[in-house]
Amino acid sequence: PAKKIAVVIGSLRKESLNRKFAHEVMALAPESLRLEIVEIGELAIYNEDLEGNGITPPQAWTQFRDRLKEFDGVLFFTPEYNRSTPAALKNALDVGSRPYGSSVWGGKPAGIVSVTPGATGAFGANHHLRQSLVFLDMPVLQQPEAYLGGAAKLLDEHGKINNDSTRQFLKKFIDAYAAWVELTTKK
Ligand code: FNR
Repeated sequence: PAKKIAVVIGSLRKESLNRKFAHEVMALAPESLRLEIVEIGELAIYNEDLEGNGITPPQAWTQFRDRLKEFDGVLFFTPEYNRSTPAALKNALDVGSRPYGSSVWGGKPAGIVSVTPGATGAFGANHHLRQSLVFLDMPVLQQPEAYLGGAAKLLDEHGKINNDSTRQFLKKFIDAYAAWVELTTKK
């Protein structure tokens, strides 16, 4: 059966380049993966006072955690904000990591695509995200690395990839991620 992969997008804006690339990569994915976007925009900023000691946590947190538990892996698309990940994405990692001992992330194979209109391919965001995933115990695909710089120029007016080399690269990436998922998840 196909592996269920949560697609988490670090940008909340409607016209997000990251979201457009997420849709393009989902369309390129092999049949061994079933990818679904899981939204993170409604999650309140994590605050330990909002749960534990008999306090009912925000419903959006509970729904997010329950939803993530259904998935075998997570594919992240991240912009770079000030050389790191957007706070919304870090917040989603934090929310999913608690309560202590009940993290939804542990063991799930991850892939990272970083997307920016800038020149540096959102390297800083990509690697800050990797730092958190080490602690969250998610095996992360190492190669190929996916740093999409100058990304606005790689899409046409409908948000579709406009050139073969980007399409071929992302096909190679998602195929490698699918193989990584097979290698790192139990049957
Ligand atoms: C940015 N942007 C940006 N780009 C980059 O390559 N490196 C960076 O450090 C930053 N820093 C940054 C901070 C903040 C607060 C904002 C709002 C933006 C620009 C960013 O790459 C651009 O807005 C992208 O279009 C964001 O990705 P989405 O929303 O298109 O997916």
